[in-house]
Amino acid sequence: MNILIIGSGGRESAFAYKLSKSPRLNQLFIAPGNAGTGQYGQNIDLKVTDFEGIAAFALANAIDMLLVGPEEPLVKGIHDFFLGREDLKHIPVVGPQKEGAQLEGSKDFSKEFMFRHNVPTAAYKSFDKSNLEEGLVYLESQKLPIVLKADGLAAGKGVLICETLEDAKAELTAMIADAKFGDASSVVVIEEFLKGIELSVFVLTDGNSYKVLPSAKDYKRIGEGDTGLNTGGMGSISPVPFADETFLTKVEERIIKPTVEGLKKDNIPYKGFIFIGLMNVDGEPFVIEYNVRMGDPETESVLPRIDSDLVDLLEGVAQGNLHERSFTVSPKTAVTVMLVSGGYPGDYESGKEITNIENVEDSIVFHAGTKELDGKVVTAGGRVLAVTTLQDNLFDALQQATADAGRVFFERKYFRRDIGFDLI
Ligand code: AMP
Ligand code: GLY
Repeated sequence: MNILIIGSGGRESAFAYKLSKSPRLNQLFIAPGNAGTGQYGQNIDLKVTDFEGIAAFALANAIDMLLVGPEEPLVKGIHDFFLGREDLKHIPVVGPQKEGAQLEGSKDFSKEFMFRHNVPTAAYKSFDKSNLEEGLVYLESQKLPIVLKADGLAAGKGVLICETLEDAKAELTAMIADAKFGDASSVVVIEEFLKGIELSVFVLTDGNSYKVLPSAKDYKRIGEGDTGLNTGGMGSISPVPFADETFLTKVEERIIKPTVEGLKKDNIPYKGFIFIGLMNVDGEPFVIEYNVRMGDPETESVLPRIDSDLVDLLEGVAQGNLHERSFTVSPKTAVTVMLVSGGYPGDYESGKEITNIENVEDSIVFHAGTKELDGKVVTAGGRVLAVTTLQDNLFDALQQATADAGRVFFERKYFRRDIGFDLI
């Protein structure tokens, strides 16, 4: 099978790594990819939203399947674009169509979906320009802290947790009246604050049946001890020790089944990944958000634990017979540590030469923000490399990943040395 992956981060590197291990794979292409994805396939210089360019490449290179990494092309309708063209519709796309992608593209849509299908989630109400005044009054009746969410995609920045009523009112006004997050905050979801510990579960579905992929936890803050600014994710672990069988059974019965069934009841076709962000509130799972793709850096911890052939699983999604495909998961623990550019998530410099990757002892190094320049590999983003190790237990995995993270070099490299140590 010839597969084209869309995207360029650590997540897409992990996809490329895992697909390249399949005997079923013929040719692999990654658009645009990074300096590391070239070791698993061929990088193609195309933007993830260049649908015409992607289509032309797919036709010229006998692509049998498109695997979409990030949310943007899905929310913009890449799957619908392929289905809508006579010459393209035979190429299956892994990732939902526009309507299903609204689960991530619109917080209001996803909250309505959850309430319609009795999926446990925080209480909420949505507001826009027409009822902003009502929203300000509504805030007065709510407990603090309170969560404000821009309805649309806001590059991971659209969620604010307000500790005071004054702050909440000012932010609600800034989001709706002053377009703080542009169009994305023309509608704002005001949501009850859930106190607990976060984790994520991932589901692969063909629209009928599903496989529950390994759970994972990511570490979003830049600083050790979960302090400082939010980032795209500084590391991840899988499995999550506190997500035991009892908890995961609740997740499957109360959340995963009603979600997949709900999509069917609503006549929303869905082939792809569902990333369910959860809060464990005293042992009870609540959905914080849906994403319509895999997480980054969660994918870098999750995929190395899947023993089954990913090409086979994705073919099951495409053909609608996922239930017939074998699915086994390694009992080992994966830990991923992100190496980032000094200054990230604020301003940082790029173009720093990366060396000593060969000194890594027992981890996989997934490239994220890297590129090739004059025969060298250099930094080209905030999150540069994801170092993942797979070991028999969490403690060994934490030690190995942290040690290997220290073995790679680039100027002003930074990483958290405490990923997962809170769970020991
Ligand atoms: P999201 O973009 O929806 O993932 O939200 C970003 C982060 O805000 C989440 O990862 C949580 O840490 C936090 N968050 C979102 N919704 C809630 C909530 N209802 N209660 C507490 N924390 C929340
Ligand atoms: N690591 C969080 C995300 O991919 O959205």
